[in-house]
Amino acid sequence: METLAPGHAQRLIAFIDASPSPYHAAATAADRLASAGFAECPPGAPLPGPGRNYALVGGSLVAWVAPERVGPSTRARLVGAHTDSPNLRVKPNPDLVKAGFRQLGVEVYGGALLNSWLDRDLGLSRRVVVRAGDGAGGSETRMLRIDAPLLRVPQLAIHLDREINEKGLLLNRQQHLAPIWALEDDDPETGFVQLLADELKVEAADVLAWDVMAHPVEPSRIVGAGGAFVSAPRIDNQLSCYAGTEAIAGAEARPDRVAALALFDHEEVGSASDRGADGAFLASVLERVWLACGGGRAEYLSALANGSCVSADCAHATNPNYADRHEPAHTIALNAGPVLKVNANQRYATNAETAAIFAAACDAADVPLQRFVNRTDLACGSTIGPLTAAALGIPTVDVGAPQLAMHSARELAGSRDVGHLVAALEAYYAMPA
Ligand code: CO
Repeated sequence: METLAPGHAQRLIAFIDASPSPYHAAATAADRLASAGFAECPPGAPLPGPGRNYALVGGSLVAWVAPERVGPSTRARLVGAHTDSPNLRVKPNPDLVKAGFRQLGVEVYGGALLNSWLDRDLGLSRRVVVRAGDGAGGSETRMLRIDAPLLRVPQLAIHLDREINEKGLLLNRQQHLAPIWALEDDDPETGFVQLLADELKVEAADVLAWDVMAHPVEPSRIVGAGGAFVSAPRIDNQLSCYAGTEAIAGAEARPDRVAALALFDHEEVGSASDRGADGAFLASVLERVWLACGGGRAEYLSALANGSCVSADCAHATNPNYADRHEPAHTIALNAGPVLKVNANQRYATNAETAAIFAAACDAADVPLQRFVNRTDLACGSTIGPLTAAALGIPTVDVGAPQLAMHSARELAGSRDVGHLVAALEAYYAMPA
């Protein structure tokens, strides 16, 4: 049987496995961009305009390819995606002891399918702020990544919950999700802060604060007959981050456009943050790029109003076991190309004109295009698309690779759809004005 898993699916797996948290996802994208000749803008320094550059703030990144000078006919051509996915987030005083077990208190970040975090081997990642070694009272931020399978949320045995298969699984977020990670008597000295200190090779007293989350440690892989599918965590939305990064890595500087890629943290919790799609980060970077390339504010605003944005976020493929949950005239298949998302109530930013832009890009890339609309009697999800359109005044289209099991700790996509989305976004950046 012919294998369906070409290079892009394999490289997506490497991207995801290198990126357990949004901070790691932004760093993985930054590494890829650096290898394609992009320069990192140091925090606090004036942004350079022309050329290939990127700015990084925590789990968010904006990269751009700009000409030497912008003019009245230079337009913005954007791709946006999000780096975050639902997960379990460690509380500030996390150490719990119950029934002889050591556990960690956790919050739920975003709209997680809670059941998918049960009976799964979990590591810890994100970042820790420690006292700086300079003795001057400063602090430094360190990335954290523990891929050892430290944590586990055990499901209740069926013998103690006889009706679960008929009545469904009900999980209380406070009561039922605290992972166990040791026995009480194993090492009475060891608490969570000591664990962080040992990992980062600092004193426990020098651990000042942390943003730490659990992540599944099982490696991603190609599954299905002929390698049809990618089985991985965080496909929503690291698949789009990967595709956008690959596409802009190949974009060329042209006088009629500034090509930009925005990868945002905090989409799963509403995007309202200093670095989210509902915050100032993207607009602030883009305006400074315009000014540094010799443009004025009027030209910048005009470049947005006359430009375009592709908001890339994974779409729902039709689940064969729940086909009635999907609009019957809009069956969405895996490995059948990117999905154009439409919603009459602007939960997606797509309109006829922006849909035509993306359809033309798919056409140019010789990639098939599918069209999604939700069942009219089900509430529709949303994306960074409407937020970016509203904040920047830029015509926007919502698209994404199709996937199953969205917001599960382990999701599924079509292995050929990775390359489909890369090709469509490459064509979008390269299309004539
Ligand atoms: Co998403």
